[in-house]
Amino acid sequence: MENTLLTDKFNRQLEYLRISVTDRCNLRCIYCVPKGIVPKVPHDDILRYEEILRIVNIGVALGIRKVRVTGGEPLVRRGIDAFLKSLGDIDGLTDISLTTNGYLLEKNVDMIKSAGIRRINVSIDTLDKDKFTYITGYDVFDSVWRGIMRAYDSGLAPIKLNVVALKGHNDQELVDMARLSLTYPFHIRFIEYMPIGNSRMHTGDSLLAPEIKKRIETMGKLVPVKKNHMDGPAERFRFEGAPGEIGFIRPMSRHFCSECNRLRLTADGHIRPCLLSDRQVDVKGPMRKGCSDDQIANMFKTAVRHKQGEHDYGPDSAFKVTDQMSGIGG
Ligand code: 5AD
Ligand code: SF4
Repeated sequence: MENTLLTDKFNRQLEYLRISVTDRCNLRCIYCVPKGIVPKVPHDDILRYEEILRIVNIGVALGIRKVRVTGGEPLVRRGIDAFLKSLGDIDGLTDISLTTNGYLLEKNVDMIKSAGIRRINVSIDTLDKDKFTYITGYDVFDSVWRGIMRAYDSGLAPIKLNVVALKGHNDQELVDMARLSLTYPFHIRFIEYMPIGNSRMHTGDSLLAPEIKKRIETMGKLVPVKKNHMDGPAERFRFEGAPGEIGFIRPMSRHFCSECNRLRLTADGHIRPCLLSDRQVDVKGPMRKGCSDDQIANMFKTAVRHKQGEHDYGPDSAFKVTDQMSGIGG
């Protein structure tokens, strides 16, 4: 394996940058947004697209190969189409993907494809419309589903469907989500809820992967799928003969830190070594005071140096991240 300037002291090659382009969102998921008024990052504190592109280009020179655009909801930010195209034009990036809540997906599929994005992740926690409205705060299940179908028809692949499993909220519907993998080539990814920022859920609401797996296995045997390099943390399975896959992302019940290859760029311009630690390096401040590309490269290296070996989370831990998920980038 090629050694890059972004290899950390645990010998992890950090070649994947997740970019939150906005903390704004057109939904209010119970596991992401608190009750009442949601604190927003002031407009001036959000990185401009040119600033993000400068940071990404410097990252690519250091060894970043893969980026994911996320939020908040990336498709609500004005100019996202031109930004995605500019990302697509960066030599050296081998993979660009997008995470969306799907609400604006239907009308954006062509734009996403023409920017050169081949893979998308869509958050959808239930197929029950009323539950969907309860979880996201909006009665827009049909729009999201149409977006997913439009993306499927357009040939975007793989389409990953992110399901945050919440005890007592959508646990009855997990089997229906898993069943989609029998009909479509979708990757259904069950994510353990993480207590990040201020939301309406708590550590105890996290339904853990072994329990989810047990419920889903009532449908049939899950066969392991071999992992690829750059695959990320999901444990992959499929039902025999199924076109789609089942994945488990288990930050709470099994730390996958040793396989982590990520850095994050937050909406307000910090490089964050770990989702589950509030430690981060400010890039926006120095950049707006006129710092050089070399100085920004050093900020990447500082973030890499600060990346901890393992996070402190667990089902019984009281530890909690303070920053909001929407600004960090899920
Ligand atoms: N815990 C686990 N997953 C979360 N997501 C958002 N907030 C949380 C949380 N607290 C998921 C969303 C989205 C993905 C980027 O992260 O469902 O699909
Ligand atoms: Fe929006 Fe995603 Fe947060 Fe839901 S989880 S409120 S879709 S940013």
